[in-house]
Amino acid sequence: MDSLIEAMKKYLATNFSFYLKIHQFHWNVQGPNFPQYHKFFNKMYEEVWEATDDIAEHIRSLNAFAPGSLKDYKQLTMIEDQTELALDDQQMLAIAYADNGTVIEAIKIAYKAAEFNNEIGLSNFLQDRMDQHKKIAWMLRATIKNAPMTSTKP
Ligand SMILES: [Fe+2]
Repeated sequence: MDSLIEAMKKYLATNFSFYLKIHQFHWNVQGPNFPQYHKFFNKMYEEVWEATDDIAEHIRSLNAFAPGSLKDYKQLTMIEDQTELALDDQQMLAIAYADNGTVIEAIKIAYKAAEFNNEIGLSNFLQDRMDQHKKIAWMLRATIKNAPMTSTKP
């Protein structure tokens, strides 16, 4: 059970980091396609943000505390912090695509641990999240020029 709780904490922090990065892209994207990308990132960060509460409450259901500090998230997250802000839209899309792949990895690790611990409801939730992130991967892939067809990572 400890490895499941740890995997869920990592997923929570990774999801939060991904949310924050996509929200930041929504703010800072520039160029002639600004209106489309501003909206595109908006829809994406809203969906990812909404999952945060469910992930945290699943951790509480496992009778553990849900971390909520930047210090903890920095330690737990699998996603690199985004400090370079002046990126072009294609760079943002490529980073979002790679990071979405990392979120998928975090979900897979948590899913394996949930299955091992026979946490059926949690497995089900993680399957749904996987579907959402596969959809995000498709949308990013369809938007990126020269994106690979087979991998979840560029
Ligand atoms: Fe906004």
